[in-house]
This record gives sequence, structure tokens and C-alpha cells, in this order.
Amino acid sequence: MAKKIIVGNWKMNPTTPREAKELFQKIKRKSAKLKKVTTVICPPAIYLPIFAGKNGNLKLGAQDAYFERQGAFTGRISSAMYKYMGAQYVILGHSEMRRAGETERVVNQKIKAALKEGLKVILCIGENERDSGGVYLKFLQGQLKTGLAKIPRANLKNITIAYEPVWAVGKKAKAVDTPEDFLHNKLFIRKVLVGIAGPKAGLTVPIIYGGSVNIENDDGFIKKGEADGLLIGRESLNADHFVNTLSMVENL
Ligand code: PGA
Repeated sequence: MAKKIIVGNWKMNPTTPREAKELFQKIKRKSAKLKKVTTVICPPAIYLPIFAGKNGNLKLGAQDAYFERQGAFTGRISSAMYKYMGAQYVILGHSEMRRAGETERVVNQKIKAALKEGLKVILCIGENERDSGGVYLKFLQGQLKTGLAKIPRANLKNITIAYEPVWAVGKKAKAVDTPEDFLHNKLFIRKVLVGIAGPKAGLTVPIIYGGSVNIENDDGFIKKGEADGLLIGRESLNADHFVNTLSMVENL
């Protein structure tokens, strides 16, 4: 069976390198013992050099990467730079980036650039509002089609889809998705992926859940929801809780 992927998105946390090191060490200690889980930690870019090196099962990721390789782009960091600093993954199309103005086209450009540099991409998709008529499914389909446009099938093995309904993400989340709904949406996403890339590539892309995952609901998404992994924000800043989730997945 394929390993589950558990991603910790630290966002703009913690404030000091000392706290970051402490958190990272605890997660690293646990990750070293895991056989069925790939742990990916996405710290603020500035902390990457502190953590780069031999981390075994624990992989490093970026929270975003610009599509240009270098040049006059103040404040940006390219996929190539992240690669050199030890990142193996990059989260792209996160709802917090989209909210700040990132378009579908830009997400697509960033994906292409990241794949070219050899990074594995965690592409976030998710609707802003859920409607009972299923209009949101069309929205998800659009995000996948545009995001993955002109990406060779062979490259799909380097992509993970993180389904994160926007209304379930972050401190202001209105609700959490249910494992049952996640499974339903996972199957829909799978169908769209197969439509885009054919069964060979489309059936193997991991589809993970994100949005207010915590130690109360994490197992539901994996067991009942059949998620291939989890993308965790706030709870990834709590070492005990995050490690708890890692153990839960390892001991399934
Ligand atoms: P959350 O964030 O777990 O704090 O809701 C998830 C994410 O933004 O990826």
C-alpha cells in the first residue's frame, strides 16, 4: 500500500527560530520511526536552511514558489531556490494565496515551474461555498483543469491534490467537512483526474484532505474518508497533537 502523506503547513509561524527548531525536532524524532507515513513540513521559507540536511522520512516543503526562476521580482522566491535550500515539496494554490489575488493561470504557471525544478507539488483546490445542487463540483473541476493544463501525464506522479474546502480552512472556519462528504468529493476529483490524464496517471495521484483537521477528526478522514493523507495547518504547530496524528496513521 502507498504511504500516507501528512503535511504540516506552518504558515507564518512560529515567530522565533528557537520555537521553530523545538517544534521541528519533536516531529523529526517521531517521523524517523514511521514506515507507513511520509511527513512533509512546510515552514516559513526563512527557516528552511536551519532544517535542511538528513531528515530521513521527514521531508521539507515550501508554502509557495514563484514561477520565474530569477529576476527583478521583489519579495519572491523561486522553485529553483527552494530546491537548493532543501525543499522537496511545494504547496501551490493555497486558498490564502488565492485570496491574496493568485489566479488559476498563475497557479498553473507555478506548477509547471516547480515540476521543472524537480519539486513535488501539493496542489490545493476547494470551493468557497458548498451548495446542495453540486455547482461547486463544476468549480473544482475548473480548478483542476486549469491548474493541470499542459502538464504532461508523466508528471502527474509528482502531484498530490489537497482538497481543502475554503469554508473549512483556518481559524475563522465555519465548519469542518465530514469524512463522508470528503469521500464523495475525492471520488469526483478522481474522476476528473482520470478524464484529464487517463486511468494510468489519474488513478495514482494521492488525494488528501485539509481544513481544520485535529486529533478528534483526523482518523475519520483517513478511515471513513479514505484520504491518502492530510494537510494540517493550526494543529501542525502543536507538536504533541501533530505527532499524535502521525502515530494514528502509522498504526492504522
Ligand atoms: P487549518 O489549515 O488546518 O488551520 O484549517 C489548513 C490549511 O490551510 O492548509
